[in-house]
Amino acid sequence: MKRKILVTSALPYANGAIHLGHLVEYIQTDIWVRFQKMCGHECWYVCADDTHGTPIMLRAEKEGISPEVLIDRVHGEHTRDFAGFHVGFDNYYTTHSEETRACANDIFARLAAAGLIETRTIEQYYDPLKQMFLPDRFIKGECPKCGAHDQYGDNCESCGSAYTASELRNPYSAVSGARPELRQSEHYFFRLSDHRCQSFLRRWTQSEDRLQPEAANKLQEWLGEEGEDRLTDWDISRDAPYFGFEIPGAPGKYFYVWLDAPIGYMGSFRNLCSRTGLDFDEYWKDGSSTELYHFIGKDILYFHALFWPAELEHAGYRTPTRVFAHGFLTVDGAKMSKSRGTFITAESYLAQGLDPEWLRYYYAAKLSATMEDIDLNLDDFIARVNSDLVGKFVNIASRSAGFIVRHFAGRLCTCDESLHAVDAIRDRRAVIAGHYEGREFGKAIREIMALADLANQYVDRVKPWELARQPGSERELHTACSNAVNLFRLLAVLLKPVLPALAVKAEDFLNVAPFTWDDGATVLAAGHAIRSYRHMLTRVDRRQVDALVEANRQSLAAAPPPAPQRHAEHQEKAAARSAVEAEGPPVGGAHVALDEFMRVDLRVARIAEASHVEGADKLVRLLLDVGPLGRRQVFAGIKAAYDPAALVGRLTVVIVNLAPRKMRFGLSEGMILAASDPEGRQPGIFLLSADAGAQPGMRVK
Ligand code: MSP
Ligand code: ZN
Repeated sequence: MKRKILVTSALPYANGAIHLGHLVEYIQTDIWVRFQKMCGHECWYVCADDTHGTPIMLRAEKEGISPEVLIDRVHGEHTRDFAGFHVGFDNYYTTHSEETRACANDIFARLAAAGLIETRTIEQYYDPLKQMFLPDRFIKGECPKCGAHDQYGDNCESCGSAYTASELRNPYSAVSGARPELRQSEHYFFRLSDHRCQSFLRRWTQSEDRLQPEAANKLQEWLGEEGEDRLTDWDISRDAPYFGFEIPGAPGKYFYVWLDAPIGYMGSFRNLCSRTGLDFDEYWKDGSSTELYHFIGKDILYFHALFWPAELEHAGYRTPTRVFAHGFLTVDGAKMSKSRGTFITAESYLAQGLDPEWLRYYYAAKLSATMEDIDLNLDDFIARVNSDLVGKFVNIASRSAGFIVRHFAGRLCTCDESLHAVDAIRDRRAVIAGHYEGREFGKAIREIMALADLANQYVDRVKPWELARQPGSERELHTACSNAVNLFRLLAVLLKPVLPALAVKAEDFLNVAPFTWDDGATVLAAGHAIRSYRHMLTRVDRRQVDALVEANRQSLAAAPPPAPQRHAEHQEKAAARSAVEAEGPPVGGAHVALDEFMRVDLRVARIAEASHVEGADKLVRLLLDVGPLGRRQVFAGIKAAYDPAALVGRLTVVIVNLAPRKMRFGLSEGMILAASDPEGRQPGIFLLSADAGAQPGMRVK
C-alpha cells in the first residue's frame, strides 16, 4: 500500500555553519526518506533555517547588516552545504516567512481560545546600556557554587552545577559589559501545567510507539506520576528589541524563537503545498491518511515530545506519528573541538575535496535507532570506506565490466539466478528493508557488506582475468562477468538510499532507469547492453583527512556562534552545549579579538637551507634558523616562484606554534608567510621579508 509520509529534520540555526555534527541528522533523515521514495511511497522531506532570536539579532548587528540580510546569506550557505552532501529536501525554507507567521498566529489564537495562554509579570535581567532584556546565555558572572569566574547565566562549565541567572555573583552583560539590573516585564505563557496538557502528554508519550524506549523513559521522568503535575508553564514571549514575529495584539512582545521554530515545519510544508498543489490539511489537520515524522537530536527532545505535541493537540492539529531522536557526534572519541581541528564544517569537508558519500556511508554504518552518541573515528573512517566501498563494492564492477565491453560488445548474457550470492541477496532484501525502515542503518550496512563478500568470493572463484587469457573460454568469461555485473547492480540497489550519487553513476553505467527497491528482486535480461565502466569512487587518502583537520584548526579565529538559547528546565542542555567545546566568548564575524591574534606566534626566521623535494612539484624544503627557538624544517609551496638557491640567507616570517604536520617527505614544523591574489587572477607568490636589522627569533606582532 502506498503511504503518504511527511518527514522533517530539525531546523538549523541561521547563525552558524553546518558542521559534521549536524550532518548526522540530515544524512540519517535523507537516507530514510530516500528509502521510502525508492519503495514507491509518497514521501515529502521539508526543513528550513531557524532564523529568529537574540543571537541572530546581535550577530547581524555586529556584522553591521540587517538580520534579513544575514539570514539570506546563511540560507544560501546552508542550501549549498546540504546539496553538497546530497541531502534531498523537497523544500528548504525559512521560519522568517509569511506562511510560518500565519501558522504561529493561528496556533497562538487557538491555544488562547482554549484557555491555555496566560500573561504574567516576571523579573528578568536588563542591560541598561544596551537597553534590552538579556537571555541567560548573555549574562556572565561568578558561579554561586564554586566561584568560578566568567560563567554563563544558566550553568557553570567549571563545576557543572545549574542555577538561574539571578543567582550569579557579580553578574555582567556579555553584550555590553554593563551590570544588569532586574526589571519587570509582562510575558505570555503556554499553560503546560494545565491538567489537560499533562494528562494528554502522559497518554501520548506512552502510546503507539511514539518515542524510542529511552526517550519515553525521559519523558516519564519529566512528567512524573499521574497527579504529580511536574510540568511548569512555558514562557513563549520576549520583549523588543527582538528578531522574530510580533505577537498579534501585543505591541513590543514577540514570540520566543522556540515557539515559531517547530511551526516552521508547517510553514515550509505550506510553502511546498502552494507550489505543488498538495493538501496541507491532509497532513496537518486530519492525520488519518498520512504519517508525520520528526528527526531530531536528543538535546531538543523536550521541545518536540512535550511542548510540540501539546501545542498541536490543543490547537486542533494532528500530532506527530513518531519522533526519532539520535545521539551526538564525537570525533575520535571526544567532543568536536575547534582547537583540535575536529569541529569540521561541511563546507571545509567539500572544499578539501573529500567525497560526501564517504561520510554518508560511514555514518550509515554507525547509525542505529537509539539515542547513543556516534563516533567518527578518522582512522576507522579511512579504513572502512576503502575496504568496504572501494575494496568490496565498486571493485565488483571494475573487475568485470571491461570484459563485457571489450569482448562482448557490451552485451550481457543470462544471469545465473541459482548462484548462491544472487540467492542470498534476494533472501536478505526484506530484512535489509526492515533495517532501513527501523533506522537500523548499521545493521543494513553489515548485511549488505556480507552479501558483497559473497559476490567477491564468486568473482575470486571464477577469475574473469584468467578466463580472458585462456583461449576457448569465451562462454565462461561471458557468464562470469554477466553474473558479476548483475551482483554489482543488486548491491547498488540496496545501497542507493545511502549512496545516491554513486547510484546515478551505476544506473548510467548499467544503462538502466533509476533503481527502485523492487529492482533488487530482478536481474538484467540477456542481451542487455551496458555502457563502458567509468571510475566511480576513489579511495580516501590519509593526507586529505589530515589536511581537513588542519584546515579546521586554522579556521579557529573565525567567529564561534553564540550557543543557542535553551529552555531553562531543559535537562539535556548542559550536555548539548558541552557537546561543542566552549572556546572563549562570542566574537563578531569580521573581527578577531586581540588576544586571539596574539596566540599566533610569528617570528623572524633566516632561511639556512633550501632544497628541492623529491617527488613534489610544488614544495621547497626549508631549514629555518629561528634564533633562540632553534632550527625548524618547513615545507613551503613556493617552488613555482622561487629557486631554492636564491632563498638561502634571506629573512622571512614564520608561524612557529602551528601544530606540526607529518607529510610524506617529513615533518613540517611551521609555515612561512607569503602573499598571493586570493582570486588567482594575478599569478605569483610573494614571500614576506623583514627589514634589515631584524634578528632571527624576533617576535612579529
Ligand atoms: N534550531 C534548533 C532546532 C529547531 S527545530 C524546530 C536547533 N538548531 S541546531 O542548529 O542547534 O541543531 C540542529 C539539529 O542538529 C538538532 O537536531 C541538533 O540535535 C543536531 N545537532 C547539532 N549538533 C550536533 C552534533 N554534534 N551531533 C549530532 N547532532 C547534532 O537545535
Ligand atoms: Zn561552578
